[in-house]
Amino acid sequence: MQQSIKYSFKTISGSYFILCVWLLSILSGCATGNKPQSQKQGVVADKAMVVSAHPDASRIGLEILRKGGNAYDAAVATQFALAVCFPAAGNIGGGGFVVYRHHTGETGGLDYREMAPTTASRDMYLDAAGNPIDDLSKLGHLASGVPGAVDGMVKLHQKMGSLPWKDLVQPAIDLAKRGIVLTAKEAAGLNGNKDYFLKYNKHLPYLVKQQTDWKAGDTLRHHDLARTLERIRDKGRDGFYAGETADLIVQEMKTGGGIISKQDLKNYTSVWRTPVTGNYKDYKIISMAPPSSGGVALLQLLNMVAPYNLKQSGWQQAKTIQVMTEAERRVYADRATYLGDPDFVKVPVQDMLQPEYLKARMADFSMDQATASSAVKAGEFAPKESEQTTHFSIVDQAGNAVSITTTLNGSYGSKVVVQGAGFLLNNEMDDFSVKPGVPNMFGLVGGTANAIEPGKRMLSSMTPTIVEKDGKLYMVVGTPGGSTIITQVFQAILNVVEHGMTMQEAVAAPRFHHQWLPDEIQHEADAITPEVRTILTGKGYKLTERGRFGRIDAILVRPDGKMEGGADPRGDDLAVGF
Ligand code: DON
Repeated sequence: MQQSIKYSFKTISGSYFILCVWLLSILSGCATGNKPQSQKQGVVADKAMVVSAHPDASRIGLEILRKGGNAYDAAVATQFALAVCFPAAGNIGGGGFVVYRHHTGETGGLDYREMAPTTASRDMYLDAAGNPIDDLSKLGHLASGVPGAVDGMVKLHQKMGSLPWKDLVQPAIDLAKRGIVLTAKEAAGLNGNKDYFLKYNKHLPYLVKQQTDWKAGDTLRHHDLARTLERIRDKGRDGFYAGETADLIVQEMKTGGGIISKQDLKNYTSVWRTPVTGNYKDYKIISMAPPSSGGVALLQLLNMVAPYNLKQSGWQQAKTIQVMTEAERRVYADRATYLGDPDFVKVPVQDMLQPEYLKARMADFSMDQATASSAVKAGEFAPKESEQTTHFSIVDQAGNAVSITTTLNGSYGSKVVVQGAGFLLNNEMDDFSVKPGVPNMFGLVGGTANAIEPGKRMLSSMTPTIVEKDGKLYMVVGTPGGSTIITQVFQAILNVVEHGMTMQEAVAAPRFHHQWLPDEIQHEADAITPEVRTILTGKGYKLTERGRFGRIDAILVRPDGKMEGGADPRGDDLAVGF
């Protein structure tokens, strides 16, 4: 069966994928191929820290902490600030996941992933012959799931927040009115999407500069978004899912042939989920449960490589890359088959994390020769009786930690700006498997577990993670990057715990990635030396260089109790603290 799965970057999603990677690389400063800075150590703080993809968002989060807010308050303020200053991925029209660790040691997860609208159906992106229609799940009004970000922030605040809600939304409103002074990267991101914005909007979205292009130093003001945020400030959930904002979303759907209804908005609800947890040596890993594949896959990866001495084989050496790649190949095969929304399909999380199972998965791996992905299929369990994204990390004075990854999916999502409401809608529907075996924009394949159904949440790779050591907070970590998110978090953790890097070094270090299909190690330019390349190709590995990927923003608690921020030099990311 696995052999019949077709994979090619030149299939339906190929051109879009390449464009998406290109746009993401412009946004993250990768197009120039500039090396990550080899800064030894990141920003160090005594008490509290925020690391996010945009300096304005980091500062707004920190300001909330300075005013006595806790990490959850700061997270809410940072999410809304990113919706303003980082429109490519920060959002109120998308969704995400929170993993937290309270200073008491209690942990939790919040799923504010988008949901398929009620009239969505399994074959909605296929033509009469059963073939996917170009770009339909990726661009325009039909690509959007029902947004979860506002409900997620309301729930997070209700359960965990301490400052008044209004105080957390207001800084984003002020920022939207004041405007963002664009950097060269941001201007290029907007200009690079101009044709899409014009094609997929019947009105002229404010993200398009008429006559000329955006340039560095221009100010982008978000007037409509400021008013939407004011409604959210004043009415909470109802400021988005009811009243004027809901009317504007539904009107936008009618104009562009979308299907999100008033009822869909009213019904949307984010869900508290118990994080998946497990150990890697002395470390406890706390990460996101399904409908994200991130936590399960990360724990599978760490457990599969644990028997190998990666410290001894060395960072980015052939043996280390081989072991990690072979684990990744097998884990992504499992992901494609078993993972989906647990409210709709039975996800065998416990089976997938059984030590014997993970050991058996690696049993056919030989150090002499690459395993062919065509020979790998999802594992089988012993029958039982019953059966463009952004990440930010926050730690506050009390030691509460929040790890959030949030997304519109592709850069600027569906490219649709809700007229009059000033925000972009996601194109998250593409994270479903639109047809078994057909790759999505990140080249990921899936089957029935991740097929479209009304009200279902699409499978995610987002991996907001917290690591404990000796029962104490050790690391807060996560990243954007589609299918590569899981392997990036995997590498960042190993970079610190096995290869002795500081947080900043671990975040900046060049990366590689394997996702079963396509059967290749994708890597950043400087991730693999010529000598290691020769060894790996000699063993049958195919290596494909690609632009830089991801923007890991992380915090490490050092032995002296101080915190070190790792802000990814691939973007404008900033760690701030006090
Ligand atoms: O949930 C997911 O796995 C994807 N929607 C994430 C997309 C992403 O990371 C794009 N950013 N580079």
